[in-house]
Amino acid sequence: MRKMFAYFLFCSVLGLTALVAQKKTPPTKLVFQAKSGNITFDHTAHAKREKNDCTVCHDKLYAQDAKAPLAFKPPHKNGEDKKISCGSCHRSGGAAFETKANCTNGKCHVKAAAKKG
Ligand code: HEC
Ligand code: HEC
Repeated sequence: MRKMFAYFLFCSVLGLTALVAQKKTPPTKLVFQAKSGNITFDHTAHAKREKNDCTVCHDKLYAQDAKAPLAFKPPHKNGEDKKISCGSCHRSGGAAFETKANCTNGKCHVKAAAKKG
């Protein structure tokens, strides 16, 4: 009887460990609030472009937590020069478009449409 209880306990601990260690489900889209217009970060598209290699960004660039700070405050040139956060790719000569001249042309910051009435 005692042995069985020990076995049961062992299995429960194993199961719980597996649950905690499980990779978190990635979000599809994340919206980052900003005064100059919110940014919709297409997480699915970003992950897909990296062939779903999560380690490109996690956890060296970002925690897996949408509430954690992004460390990419304006002026973005600073982050681009340091190649940190979004600026590690979004910079001149980087893998993606730089922030310069792309602030509000629909690529990044989008102001919410004015409410009617
Ligand atoms: C191009 C970079 C990039 C790649 C690749 C990437 N992520 Fe993320 N992920 C982010 C960013 C940015 C955030 C938001 C971090 C923040 O707000 O501080 C995030 C947040 C998350 C969150 C938290 C969501 C929430 O609602 O709190 C999870 C979970 C996550 N990613 C899982 C994954 C998984 C799993 C993969 C691989 C399939 C992956 N990510 C690949 C950039 C990336
Ligand atoms: C690992 C490299 C990488 C990182 C880190 C990264 N991006 Fe991107 N991003 C790309 C690539 C590649 C594209 C598509 C190519 C292009 O449009 O220049 C892109 C495109 C975009 C687009 C256009 C819509 C889309 O997804 O196609 C937005 C908006 C964007 N990124 C915002 C961000 C923001 C905000 C961050 C930081 C939270 C970020 N990106 C971090 C590589 C990255």
